[in-house]
Amino acid sequence: MSLKSEVMNTTSPQYTGFYLLSRAGFESEVANEAKDLCAQAQIGGYVQTTPNSGYAVFRTFESLARLPNELSLSNWIFARQYVPMLGECTNLPTDDRLASIFELLGTQTVSDIIAETPDTNDGKEFSGLARSLTNAARQALKKLGQYKESDKRLPRLHLLILSGTHILVGLAYRTQSSPHAGGIMHLKLPKDAPSRAILKLEEAAISLLTVAEREHWLRSGMSAVDLGAAPGGWTWWLAQQGLLITAIDNANMSESVMKTGQVEHIRADGFSWHPRHPVHWLCCDMVEQPDRVATLVAKWLKEGWAEAALFNLKLPMKKRYGMIQECMATLNNLRDTHVLRAHQLYHDREEITVLALPIAK
Ligand SMILES: C[S@@+](CC[C@H](N)C(=O)[O-])C[C@H]1O[C@@H](n2cnc3c(N)ncnc32)[C@H](O)[C@@H]1O
Repeated sequence: MSLKSEVMNTTSPQYTGFYLLSRAGFESEVANEAKDLCAQAQIGGYVQTTPNSGYAVFRTFESLARLPNELSLSNWIFARQYVPMLGECTNLPTDDRLASIFELLGTQTVSDIIAETPDTNDGKEFSGLARSLTNAARQALKKLGQYKESDKRLPRLHLLILSGTHILVGLAYRTQSSPHAGGIMHLKLPKDAPSRAILKLEEAAISLLTVAEREHWLRSGMSAVDLGAAPGGWTWWLAQQGLLITAIDNANMSESVMKTGQVEHIRADGFSWHPRHPVHWLCCDMVEQPDRVATLVAKWLKEGWAEAALFNLKLPMKKRYGMIQECMATLNNLRDTHVLRAHQLYHDREEITVLALPIAK
């Protein structure tokens, strides 16, 4: 294999667009978001998607020296991964895939290699190739002096494997993309957890809050109301962080949650009950219309019944993107007082998770 190709590029990288990964079935939402975000950032190009493929590609009309920060992953709701793209390798020889990949990389040094696949059955077939390609690329780049793991300012090389002969090659800085292959955060369900729903809350805490925000906002003795709490996964997780929780649901809470001694269970309708004294957190996982939930959360925060909120918006069967736009417009009324972050997490299904955190004074 000739690692130093004759056409090796010595100038700074040029981006031909970006790729996005999402939950399979959400490609049109991702495409709509790409169109909106690129229009706002004044990036000309077009988006390509295939239904149920789990990915979308935005190709810019011209190569760019950089893509704007407004396109970084934290600005996307439906994308789990966002990677600025150097180019695409098609018809790759299966005995030497790296030469073509390295041609696109040029002389750029990287701090890591992330080979990823779409989150589909077809994509899973290439997880072995992703592992072997990561190892081979790391060894080869080390030999070339283009791999410096310790220098976190350097970008990561991303490889999106679409087949054994078709790979998208990207380069992303740490603030731009997810450090997890495919944007998938694998979490372990604790043995005594009352429901799998805790994984949503744990992923939300890790991905929507910074370390400093987690330390500040998830402390022992803080208070939370959990609307639609049964059987109690979210309440249990909040109790593990030391919070005192009022759980609102007409359904039964599981015994392990009540045993923590940190939970009061009130059987009531989440749309009419509110606390007498302000609490730190409003959490809400009620299976209800998303626009009703967005209006309810906005009311709680405006009234000062809670300082911060973390909640799910369940998606309708049709017009999912339009509905989420409507909900975010309702929540945008809080922008003067709260930071809003919204994302379809790996552990979310037909829903997205939203965080509203007071702006630090
Ligand atoms: C998805 S489950 C919540 C799961 C919970 N977060 C957990 O971690 O175990 C939705 C819950 O919302 C409750 N719910 C739906 N509408 C409600 C309402 N209007 N008021 C209170 N609870 C409601 C249901 O009874 C159900 O228990």
